[in-house]
Amino acid sequence: MRIDVFTLFPEAFAWLLSQRHVTNAIGAGHELRCVNYRDHTPLSGGQVDDTPFGGGAGMVLRVDVVEAALRATYGEDPVALRERRRVIALDPAGQLLDDGLVDELTAEPALTLLSGRYEGFDERILEHFCSERVSIGRYVLAGGELAAMVLCDAVLRKLPGALGDERSAREESFSAALQGRPEYPHYTRPAEHRGWRVPDVLLSGHHARIAEWRAERSRARAGEAAQSLGRGSGAELSSGGSLP
Ligand code: ADE
Repeated sequence: MRIDVFTLFPEAFAWLLSQRHVTNAIGAGHELRCVNYRDHTPLSGGQVDDTPFGGGAGMVLRVDVVEAALRATYGEDPVALRERRRVIALDPAGQLLDDGLVDELTAEPALTLLSGRYEGFDERILEHFCSERVSIGRYVLAGGELAAMVLCDAVLRKLPGALGDERSAREESFSAALQGRPEYPHYTRPAEHRGWRVPDVLLSGHHARIAEWRAERSRARAGEAAQSLGRGSGAELSSGGSLP
């Protein structure tokens, strides 16, 4: 898997690149590369954005700058690029990132992520260069970098060899192994702290009963999660947008 992240702040990714699961993934031959739009701008003074036509606050990332960065990186027209590679704009109004989408992205050989800043992208970037828009939640961040890092983290940790123990990614919250339900609770030593005891079944060594208890706790958590969603606005249930 190769992930290219286009950003105005490549230095923000240093922390992610230093994380063990990411260094493991890179050691196993995967790649995570940052491209700075500013390094490819055809405009003077490193300009990458401009004021919105029609007025309004903030600055908008320019379509010519993004085209130049994509062309320089891939050596082809970005309109054609999205036909053979997923080009994802991080956008609060996009399709919500969930475990199913992460699985789908993990199976891709390559991804291109576009982070926006300021007021966002010139709409023509989304319309002509991107295959889709992805959101990490219905709230607005100051830029797409944190969202891109969330996506990279979620994808890279699923790659074989990224986590120390493959079981960590197989049987975790929302995974197929748990039928999409939240994970069961975990406990470690001490077995008792301030009178708070670890459930006896986990100390029993009885694998079948432990598995049964975990499945039951996972189902109970799914019920609790469904109830709290029911209390929400409902907006979190809508999936948002693919692009034509
Ligand atoms: N850019 C700003 N906010 C975002 C969000 N919630 N998801 C994805 N990209 C974003």
